Amino acid sequence: MNVSKILKVILTVMILLVLIVTGVLTYLWINGQDDDNSASKQVSQKMNGNETDESQKDEADKTEEKNDDHQKEDESKDKAIRNEDGEKNTLYDEVEVQMDVIDEHNIHASYQYPLFHDDGINKVILQFIKEQKMLFEQESTRMEKANQISTHNVNFKLDKLSENLYTLVFENTMNVSGANGYVQYKTWIIDNKNYNVFTFKDFIINEPKAHDILYKVISAEIKKDKDKDFYVDYPTLKDYIQNNQLRAYPKGEKIVFNFNEYDVAAGALGAFSLEVSTEKIKDSLTDEGKVILIDQDLTKLTDKQLAQIRVDTPEHIDVPKTEEDHTYTEAPSSEDTQQENNTKNNEKPTNQVVDKGVPKTKKIAVTFDDGPNGSTTPHVLEILDKFNAKATFYMIGSKVKYNQNIVRQVHERGHQIGNHTMNHPDLTTLGQSQIKQEFDETNDLIQQAIGEKPSTFRPPYGSTNASVNQMTDMKPVLWTIDTEDWKSHDPQAILEVVKANHQDGGIVLMHDIHKTTVDSLVDVLTFLSNEGYEFVTVDEVM
Ligand code: NI
Repeated sequence: MNVSKILKVILTVMILLVLIVTGVLTYLWINGQDDDNSASKQVSQKMNGNETDESQKDEADKTEEKNDDHQKEDESKDKAIRNEDGEKNTLYDEVEVQMDVIDEHNIHASYQYPLFHDDGINKVILQFIKEQKMLFEQESTRMEKANQISTHNVNFKLDKLSENLYTLVFENTMNVSGANGYVQYKTWIIDNKNYNVFTFKDFIINEPKAHDILYKVISAEIKKDKDKDFYVDYPTLKDYIQNNQLRAYPKGEKIVFNFNEYDVAAGALGAFSLEVSTEKIKDSLTDEGKVILIDQDLTKLTDKQLAQIRVDTPEHIDVPKTEEDHTYTEAPSSEDTQQENNTKNNEKPTNQVVDKGVPKTKKIAVTFDDGPNGSTTPHVLEILDKFNAKATFYMIGSKVKYNQNIVRQVHERGHQIGNHTMNHPDLTTLGQSQIKQEFDETNDLIQQAIGEKPSTFRPPYGSTNASVNQMTDMKPVLWTIDTEDWKSHDPQAILEVVKANHQDGGIVLMHDIHKTTVDSLVDVLTFLSNEGYEFVTVDEVM
C-alpha cells in the first residue's frame, strides 16, 4: 500500500465520520428544540394562565371582527343576527328577552321571559307569566304581614337544540312574607317552525307499558343517589307518571326530568332534576316524540305526524296589548335604528335640544337599569350621544347574554357598565352561594362582551345589606332620584320627578327597557343641561 492509498482511505473514513456526527447532532438539535418549546409553553401557560386566556380572547375578538369562518362554525347553531360589522346583535334572532319588575312597598317581583315572532307561542308564554303574577298577588295579599317582604322571581333558560327547535325552562321562586320559599319548574319544547309549544307528555305513549318503562328508568336513576332514594316516595312517583305529570326536556342525548317540591318526594328534598339517556326511554315515546326528542330535526316530521301533534293555540288568552313591555318589537339592525331615529328626529329634532350654553358646574349620573334591550337601548345610546352625555347601565346577566353586541356598543361609546345580577332577585333573601352566583355569572358575561368586569353593582330593588356586600369587591350603588319611570310610563311625570329632586352629585334611576323612558330622555337631559349639569358615570360622583 502506498502513501496516497492510505491517505484516500483516511480521507474517506473522515468524511463518513463527519457525515455521521453531523447527522446525529442535527437529530439531537431538532428534538431538543421540540422539547424546549413544549416545556416552555407549558410553563408559561401555567405561570400566566390569565394572560394566555387574555391572548386567546384577543384572538377570539379578532376572529369575530373578521367574521371568520371558524366562528361561523362555532355558532352555526345560533344563526345569530349580525349587523354590518358582522357582529351579533342577539344570541337567537328569533327571540327578545322581556322583563317585568314590580317594586312596591314589601313587594319585590321580577318576571323574565323570551318572546318569539309568533303570537301563538307568545300567548302561551304570556299566559304563564300572567298566571304567575296573579298567583303571587293572591299569595302575598293573603299572607301580608307588616315589615315582611314578599319576593317572586321567575327566570328562564332557553336552549336551541336545532334549527327552530328550543327548550324553554322556567324557574319560579316565591317567598311570601318571610315564609319558606319554594322553587317550581315549568318546561316546554318549542317548535318555532310550525309554531307549536309542547310539553314532554305530548310525546309519551299513553299506555301502561310506556309508563312502566319510564318508572323503571327514573326510579333506577333515583336509587343511585342516597338522598333522593331516601326522600322519594316510589308509589307517588308511579302515580305521578301514570297521571302523565312528568316534566322534561331534551338535552343532547339525554332527557332532563324536573320535579317540583312535593311532586314525588318529601319537602326536605326540595325541587330536583334527573338526567337519563334518551335511548333508555325510547320505547315509551310516540313516533313524533322520537323525531323531536331524539332526532331533534323538525324537517323529519311527516304531514301526518304534524297534524297529529299540532297544538291549538288557546284562543281565550288575551295578550295584554296596552302594556308596552309586552309589545314585541324586532331587535333593530343598525339601519333600522338609523331610520327610526330619523323619524324620531322629525318629531323632536336635534335643534329642539335647547342647550343655552350654561356653564357645566355640576355633575349628575344618569343610570339605566334592567337592560339591555334590543329595541330601546340603541335609542337611549343615540340620545346620550347628542348630549355628549356619559351614563351608567346596570345590566341583567341573562339580557347581556342575548344582546352582546348592544353591550359592546354601550361600552364603546364610553358609558359605564355595572352588574344588576343574573335574574333580578332580592339579594337579601338568598344564601351566600346564590348571591355569589348572581354576581359572578353576570360579571363573566359582561367580561365576555367587553373584556372587563364591572367595578360597581346595583342591588335589585335597592335591597342589600352587609352580608350581601361582602360577597363581592364591587361597590354597591343606589340612587338619589327615583324617577319611577317603570311605574308611571309617563314622560312628563318622569321629567317632573327630575325637576323636583335634582342635585349636584346626584344619581338618577331610570330603566332603558321602557319606550316611555326613551321618550322622556331628550326633555330630561335638556332640562338638566340647562341647569348646568355635566352628565357623568357613577364612578365620577362617588
Ligand atoms: Ni332593576
